[in-house]
Order: sequence, then C-alpha cells, then structure tokens
Amino acid sequence: MFLSRRNKSTVGLDLGSSSIKLVKLDHNKSGYSVSAIGIRELPPEAIVADEIRDREAVIFNVQSLVEQTDPKIRDVVVSISGHGVITDKFTIDRKTGPEAEQAILFETEQRAPFDVDDVSLDYHIIKEDEDVNKMDVLLVAARKEYLRSYLELIEDCGLRPAVVDDDAFAVYNAYEGNYEIDPTRVTALVNIGFDVTNVTYLHEGLFMATRDVSAGTRGIFDAVQKEFRLNPELASKAMKGEMVDSIDQDMFKATITSASDELISGVELAFSYFRSQTKVEQIDWIVLSGGGALVPYLPEFLQSKINIPLELANPLRNIDYDPELFQYLQPEKIAPLLTVPVGLAMRKTK
Ligand SMILES: Nc1ncnc2c1ncn2[C@@H]1O[C@H](COP(=O)(O)OP(=O)(O)OP(=O)(O)O)[C@@H](O)[C@H]1O
Ligand SMILES: [Mg+2]
Repeated sequence: MFLSRRNKSTVGLDLGSSSIKLVKLDHNKSGYSVSAIGIRELPPEAIVADEIRDREAVIFNVQSLVEQTDPKIRDVVVSISGHGVITDKFTIDRKTGPEAEQAILFETEQRAPFDVDDVSLDYHIIKEDEDVNKMDVLLVAARKEYLRSYLELIEDCGLRPAVVDDDAFAVYNAYEGNYEIDPTRVTALVNIGFDVTNVTYLHEGLFMATRDVSAGTRGIFDAVQKEFRLNPELASKAMKGEMVDSIDQDMFKATITSASDELISGVELAFSYFRSQTKVEQIDWIVLSGGGALVPYLPEFLQSKINIPLELANPLRNIDYDPELFQYLQPEKIAPLLTVPVGLAMRKTK
C-alpha cells in the first residue's frame, strides 16, 4: 500500500474595501507554490473602511470567488484591520506556551487602551534574545464585537476562519518570506489599499512598529470618476491603467496627483511621527504594495514627494507558480496587490 503524503496548504483570504483576493499556497519542503489565486472586485460601497455595508454583496462575491478558484476551499486565514484592531509591541522575559500567554495577558492588562474583557488577543513573537533572556512581542488585539461579526460573516460565506491576522503583519510576513532583509537599512513597508494604508517599519532586520493611515486610493477613484464622468466600472478600469486610449493622459495624471494629497501627507505624517518616537533618524527605503502600487503615476509621485528610494513589492519572488493559474492576470504585474493574501497564506495552520 502506498501512502500519499498530502502537501499542506493554506488559503489567505483578504477582504478589502475595493476587492477580495484569495491565494492558496502549498507548503512544500522546498518552499511555497501557488495552487489557486483569484481577485474579485466589490461594488465601491459594499465595504467602507472596516464597515461592512452590503453584507449580501460581500457574501455573494466571496462565494463566487471560491467557486471560481477552488470550490473545495473551507479553511481560510483572514485578516482584519482598521479601527477594530490595535497593535502594540513590548519586551518581556522569554517564556513559551501557556506561561508566555499568561505573561502577555498580564502585560496587556497594564497597558492603556486595552480592556482585556473587550478584546480578543493574538500575538507574534518577533525577536528572542537569548543573551538577556527577553523576547519582543507584537500584540494584535481586536475588539470582541467587531471580531465576532467578522467571523460570522466568513462563516456565512461557507468558510471556516482558521486564523485571524492583521493586514500589517501579513505584509511583513510576505516581505520576510520573499526577501533577504538588509539589517543596515530602515525599511518602510507601505501597503496602499482603497481606504487604509498600512505602514510597517523594519529596523535591524526586524519588525519594529506599524501604523495605519486612514486614507487610500478611494479619493483618487472618486476624483477620476468625477473628472471624466465615468461610472464605477469604467473608473475602476482607468485606475488599473486600462483606459490609456480613451482618456486624456495628461489630465488623468493631473487628477491622480492632485487627488493623492491626503494619502501622501498621511504617509509623510506617519513617517515623521515614527522618527520622532524612535531614535531612527531616517527611513532608507520604501517597499510599496497594495493596489495603490498599481495605480498609474502614483508610485512615482509618492517617491518624488517623499524623496526616499522606493521599489514595488513582489510577494511572489520566492514562490513557485504556474502563470496559467492567473488566467487573464499577469502575475508579475499584479503581484503587489497580492501581498496581504500571500502573507496570510504563508502562515502555518493546524
Ligand atoms: N489589477 C487590479 N485589480 C484590482 N485593483 C487594482 C488593480 N490595479 C490597480 N488597482 C487599484 O487598487 C486599489 C485598491 O487597492 P487594494 O486592492 O490593495 O485595496 P483593498 O485591499 O481592497 O482596500 P483596503 O485594504 O483599504 O480595505 C483600487 O483603487 C484599484 O483601482
Ligand atoms: Mg487591503
């Protein structure tokens, strides 16, 4: 008798306010490979920031996406972000298992703004220092009410939430799994979504801090829609750079740059806050991800305003894939958009 050893696989499901992304990764001995991938755009008002406004539309689109990509999918790793989530980092004595959990809970109770009765906690140990017997813990706390309704939504889609993570940590995970991190360079991972931009800092090769900016590409989308009198479908095509022949490109560029002010000042403010709160004097490098990295003219404009070298994230850099799986999408082109779902799918689940 032959026993076939099934590869372990994990599905990352990213419910964004602009689109739902799904990536299934097989965890092989030699690394990861993509076994399913899909993106489905949502009506612009179905999810606004972290508020689900049209539950039916979300459920319908998640179910359709699963149906199209791999109907057998049940367990998914999901992420939450926005006002429902708080992250914090602290250092405690090294411990493992239940002892670690006790110590983390105790530490959390000491810290404002946490009321442990109102939040569900998850944590990541981001650094262990054997010499001084300490470990750095990143705490992810979600308001219980918010988490419960989110989990219910995933279950109503016919899925099982195996792990709940947050967007910023998924971005970090995707970066760490695909790049050799240069410890001499302070890097900012900037993930521009539709309503939220997550900024995560790496210092000495490790996760240092994260902060959400409450702005994304929605302002640009609205401006494009208004300026060129487009319906949402066409405006979203324009945002993907698919209307090059039908709209005036100079005007398009001018619209994008003037509408990206709020987003760019949000990122600048986050950077200066980070510098003022830490001993870090300069940010050396930006790695840009999320759909914002694909919006025409936006990365160049961001770089020219902020004046820090920038590259686009490629969360598929170390991952095997068959381009056929991507159907009409070009993997190298849309890779930055997949940063969160890839980071989620890189997590091990039981
Ligand atoms: N090929 C593409 N597919 C989907 N969206 C794209 C594409 N290219 C550019 N975009 C743009 O990306 C932006 C949305 O980015 P993203 O998908 O990262 O946001 P989101 O995850 O849905 O939102 P949030 O994280 O704020 O909830 C939109 O403005 C969209 O027009
Ligand atoms: Mg997103």
